[in-house]
Amino acid sequence: MAENDNKMEKVVALCKRRGFVFQGSDIYGGLAGTWDFGPLGVALNNNIKKEWWKMFVEDREDMYGLDAAIVMNAKVWQASGHTGAGFADPLVEDLETKERYRADHLLKDNGIDADGMTLEEITALIQEKGIKSPKGNELSEARQFNLMFESRVGATSGEEGKVYLRPETAQGIFVNFKNVIDSMHPKMPFGIAQVGKAFRNEIAPREFLFRVREFEQMEIEYFVKPEEWEAQFEVWRENLWKWFDHLGLSRANVQEYEVPENDLAHYSRRTIDFEYNFPGKGFDELAGFAYRTDHDLNSHMKASGIDLRYTESDGTKFIPHVLEPSFGVGRAITAVLCEAYKEDEMGGEVRTYLALPKHLAPFRVMVSPLLKNKEELVDKAREVYTLLKRAFPNVAWDDNGNVGKRYRRQDEIGTPYCITIDFETLGQEDPSLKDTVTVRDRDTGEQKRVAIALLTSVL
Ligand code: GAP
Repeated sequence: MAENDNKMEKVVALCKRRGFVFQGSDIYGGLAGTWDFGPLGVALNNNIKKEWWKMFVEDREDMYGLDAAIVMNAKVWQASGHTGAGFADPLVEDLETKERYRADHLLKDNGIDADGMTLEEITALIQEKGIKSPKGNELSEARQFNLMFESRVGATSGEEGKVYLRPETAQGIFVNFKNVIDSMHPKMPFGIAQVGKAFRNEIAPREFLFRVREFEQMEIEYFVKPEEWEAQFEVWRENLWKWFDHLGLSRANVQEYEVPENDLAHYSRRTIDFEYNFPGKGFDELAGFAYRTDHDLNSHMKASGIDLRYTESDGTKFIPHVLEPSFGVGRAITAVLCEAYKEDEMGGEVRTYLALPKHLAPFRVMVSPLLKNKEELVDKAREVYTLLKRAFPNVAWDDNGNVGKRYRRQDEIGTPYCITIDFETLGQEDPSLKDTVTVRDRDTGEQKRVAIALLTSVL
């Protein structure tokens, strides 16, 4: 069977089998739209966020980090427009089973693009085309369904205690704009970056990590002078491409989609979605890049009565405009895994391996003694393991089964190198090979002997 057949299903199965991603609340039958990261998934997840933070915050002088609270004052979401129709999806109900569906998805399945349509137009089309629910029953009229999760703070009842789990990390940045300016005195243009959880009560969570109800975002609000947004838009467009290169995604699998005016989010005047060619699904949104104008700062300024203008050194005051590159961690993980998933033939057998970039792989290297019942081999291997641990935090130890099986296991989780300590390492066969080890390359399966003293630089 070709590698690309059912690739997504194979990736999802590998994720469960090898401890990357599990269904949320698994032993209770799961909870739709939630996923848990296992030991290897959390490593990949952390590596992606670490690389992102390094590229967009640490390696730059114009970026400031932030970690705002998830639960925010409800007034934030009224001011930003998220409590209104702008942050709602069209919903229809199966009149028999009462199950709810995204009306635009049902239309799409029938070859109709509902982007920009009103609820009345959607309802009329469903009736005109005789579209039924996936269970074959009549559908209700379309209505708006707000995507924010509601909760309440403390013991307060009624509207007063009502809060929302944030549906985007961005608003934490806007409400802290003044705090960052007053404490850090940044020069224009500058950005504030944040990584954290966001929650959306999606009507139809689906396709693994693609559309879920609890996810992580890596977001930047980049503040510019209003007249400079177009030039900065082009600079950031290139920065996004560099990030996808760094994730190891081939350019053929990433494309830009200029969102049409009638489908722009309520805050945006221009948006480019960066899409990935997900196997079995085709190109779909991996990250969004929006020009949010001064919509948010302006709205918060009006609603809070706090002056959120930026003051230039000559005393001029203005509301900065904003460019927003917004990345979903789960979609990045899915794209990275799909890109890395490979099958080939090695030693007469079909082999599955993840060609993950070294800086993303859960383990950088695996160390093993050729035989686990030979004390001198195990002691030497432990020595090498300890040495490498000082250079790389993510070194694996594996002494289960035979060496071939260990290699296959590591290939499947994307470990770039496997090191085996054998009798030659001990100098028992050829004294000139004493203190050298076998280093096996994941992608080619090639093995070479490397002196232990050179290992860190070779890896
Ligand atoms: N602050 C802007 C914003 O949130 P968005 O296009 O709604 O824009 C940005 O979301 C990114 O967050 C998306 O490109 C996607 O990667 C991720 N994302 C959004 N909703 C998601 C969901 N339900 N499940 C998984 N990822 C999601």
